[in-house]
Amino acid sequence: MGRLASIDGVICPPEEAKVSVYDRGFLYGDSVFETVRTYSGEPFALDEHLTRLERSAERVAIAVPIPAADLALEIRRVVRAARNAESSARVMLSRGSGPLGLDPNLAVKPLRVVLVEPLTPLPTALYRDGIAVITVLTQRAVDATAYAQGAKVGNYLASLLALRDAKAAGAHEALILDAAGHVLEGTTSNLFVVEPARGQSSAGAGAALITPPLEAGILAGITRAHVMEVAGELGVLVRSEPITTTRLAVADEVFITSTLREILPVVRVDGRLVGGGAPGPVTRSLHAAFRRKVGMGAEPLPWEAADPLPP
Ligand code: PDD
Repeated sequence: MGRLASIDGVICPPEEAKVSVYDRGFLYGDSVFETVRTYSGEPFALDEHLTRLERSAERVAIAVPIPAADLALEIRRVVRAARNAESSARVMLSRGSGPLGLDPNLAVKPLRVVLVEPLTPLPTALYRDGIAVITVLTQRAVDATAYAQGAKVGNYLASLLALRDAKAAGAHEALILDAAGHVLEGTTSNLFVVEPARGQSSAGAGAALITPPLEAGILAGITRAHVMEVAGELGVLVRSEPITTTRLAVADEVFITSTLREILPVVRVDGRLVGGGAPGPVTRSLHAAFRRKVGMGAEPLPWEAADPLPP
């Protein structure tokens, strides 16, 4: 199982993967990135990730140094060379290096880096029993600006401090709360709640799936989009609407989504139980449908899998 890096298209072992301390990704978090994962060895939704990378780069005025199709080939090449059963790949573009100074025009040659790692599954217990989350009043760096809102930039400082609070509270994830009392997303995940549709009970059909709108300044999660699609196929009503802390507290089910975690049920928010305090039926059926969509329908479901061996 292997870890490999690629810097401007040149593959090297991780210990040789070095970039300049004058790189603006290091100096200012002046970079954009994506995290991709494979299913059956193939990068999943690579086109969607590269489209989002290009959009992030455009919003912060970093020129994408090679065409997306060539970047896709480059990522596939590193993934193949790493020879893992399944891999995750972090794809980064920084504005490049230049003399010290904030002015973005000081850097003229963007740097691209691909880091490939073996994908290690999360503990089965997180899927089986669900996770605890806390809410944290904070803001992602780009969301303070009108033009770069929703870009996936390298500066995750506000989010990592929120995650630090979550870990200190024994929780798995922190949900970002804005000043208006809306819960937007996790530090590295999108948020969904399940409510009864039209006053019915919410077991499958009759349930409504609510997720905050993109205009709230959240990241347009790739998993979020796929989950919304499978929900529609299952007859679950899907709506993008603001989620207040009260709405979150009374939801039947809550879950988060991300590339590496897929769907993780949330059973505790700020110490209070969600729904019945156990992963709910809509979350389960959406996750099963998601697994079929990514070609993993024949594998054990993540909450039924044997516990992964320690790496
Ligand atoms: N980030 N929201 C934020 C702020 C994120 O950082 C991420 C994921 C998501 C979920 O997006 P997706 O479904 O496309 O993975 C939502 C990646 C995984 C990361 O942190 O590396």
